[in-house]
Amino acid sequence: MKVFSTIADLKAEVAAQKAAGKTIGLVPTMGALHAGHASLVKKCASENDITVVSVFVNPTQFNDKNDLKNYPRTLEKDAELLQSVGCNLIFAPSEDEIYPEPDTRVFDFTPLDKVMEGKYRPGHFNGVAQIVSKLFDIVTPDRAYFGEKDFQQLAIIREMVKQLGLSLEIIACPIVREADGLALSSRNARLTDSQRKKAVTISKVLFESRNFAPSKPIAELTDWVIDNVNKESELRVEYFEIVDGNTLQAVSDWNQTDYIVGCITVFCGEVRLIDNIRYK
Ligand code: PAJ
Repeated sequence: MKVFSTIADLKAEVAAQKAAGKTIGLVPTMGALHAGHASLVKKCASENDITVVSVFVNPTQFNDKNDLKNYPRTLEKDAELLQSVGCNLIFAPSEDEIYPEPDTRVFDFTPLDKVMEGKYRPGHFNGVAQIVSKLFDIVTPDRAYFGEKDFQQLAIIREMVKQLGLSLEIIACPIVREADGLALSSRNARLTDSQRKKAVTISKVLFESRNFAPSKPIAELTDWVIDNVNKESELRVEYFEIVDGNTLQAVSDWNQTDYIVGCITVFCGEVRLIDNIRYK
């Protein structure tokens, strides 16, 4: 496994691999890696000759300066994990390398970026599109891997690929959970022991809600989920929406479409956690 910090060096290595007929897979990450990231890397390694993992805490997607400052940075440990799951090339650039000058590009993914995370984290998806489009340009992968944990991000990346006319394939990977159901997240490390125990309520309520679909009307089930998560002290639902899995627009009837997902964001103390569940 090789580690690169400059665009020029990584590009040269990728060019050499492509010249030798190798296929290239990319897994974009912000580091602080866990088994969720590892599952993406393993899938990538099983489907491509060369697996590139980028590790870059992208400042342009953080709308909260404190969140950016507190984001864990653990490159040495990340490299050990990546080595063990089949990564060939790590790309860990500096901020100046990626943004020698400010990225002023403005993307419009209407209506996908106007709801949920887009509404509560203004500018977030524009920053995600800036970094991911740069990474696609640098690495020119045949395939890129994203987790369904960030359900809206995945939909937006697919839309970006369409808008930019890129030819790579976007591969969705299922959510990896702790044994008790909590979706793995780099932010879980910031939970106290007591918060960690309470956080399990999020996935528990989501799983349970599946038993009521489609017998309970969508509006009722939405309230039921919000109320039952909020019942747990220290948990505060920011939003829960039951949406069309393709358009991300709220649905009001189970028969409206054949792909329906519930997306939730919950504050556990100060830590913002997201999760989602597929109903149909
Ligand atoms: P990050 O939060 O590090 O996540 C990197 C990838 O890992 C994303 O595709 C995310 O959906 C996936 N992932 C995280 N937790 C997961 C879990 N429990 N199960 C399955 N997949 C999981 O998402 C980002 O970084 C950034 O926005 C990025 C795309 C790298 C752009 O900066």
